[in-house]
Amino acid sequence: MKHVIAIYPGTFDPPTNGHLDLIERGSKLFGELVVAILRNPEKDPLFDVEERRAMLEKLTRRFDNVRVDIFGGLLVDFARRAGAHAMLRGIRAISDYEYELQMALMNRKLEDGVETVFLPAAEAYSYISSRIVKDVARLGGRVHGLVPPLVEAQLQRKLHRGRPSHKIAKGHK
Ligand code: PNS
Repeated sequence: MKHVIAIYPGTFDPPTNGHLDLIERGSKLFGELVVAILRNPEKDPLFDVEERRAMLEKLTRRFDNVRVDIFGGLLVDFARRAGAHAMLRGIRAISDYEYELQMALMNRKLEDGVETVFLPAAEAYSYISSRIVKDVARLGGRVHGLVPPLVEAQLQRKLHRGRPSHKIAKGHK
């Protein structure tokens, strides 16, 4: 699939090690991989879309064929503008599959030149989601190893104004 441009879409609020693993594997499969961040203010994200873009750009700098972009509206419209013929999505568990299948079929209905490629999440990251990482970080738990160090620092800054979270969790000022 080295001649194919693929889109890896998502909310990435924030990017996790699971996302990065998929980006790395996707960059080996496809000629070009566009990490596409959905602009979705209605979801009330923790990180605004430019903060997410800045994090993902730093995290993907080492991949020659990966670029980061922001999109709104329909994913298939963005794919068409990018000249992409594939979407990449990770599947962590069977529970993901139903929703992912629904999205893949809807996207193909909207644009039959675009195929969705599912990759199983790496075992080590199969229980991680951005939402669970935010919940744990917010409550002062350690997210080390679940997100890149850069994201860990940004979570700390956002949620605990830079103070070590374990002290906050134990009630220290
Ligand atoms: O990281 P997420 O939240 O699972 O990503 C979901 C995303 C961004 C891939 C999905 O919500 C999406 O593609 N939204 C764009 C709107 C769209 O095209 N909808 C029709 C296809 S279901």
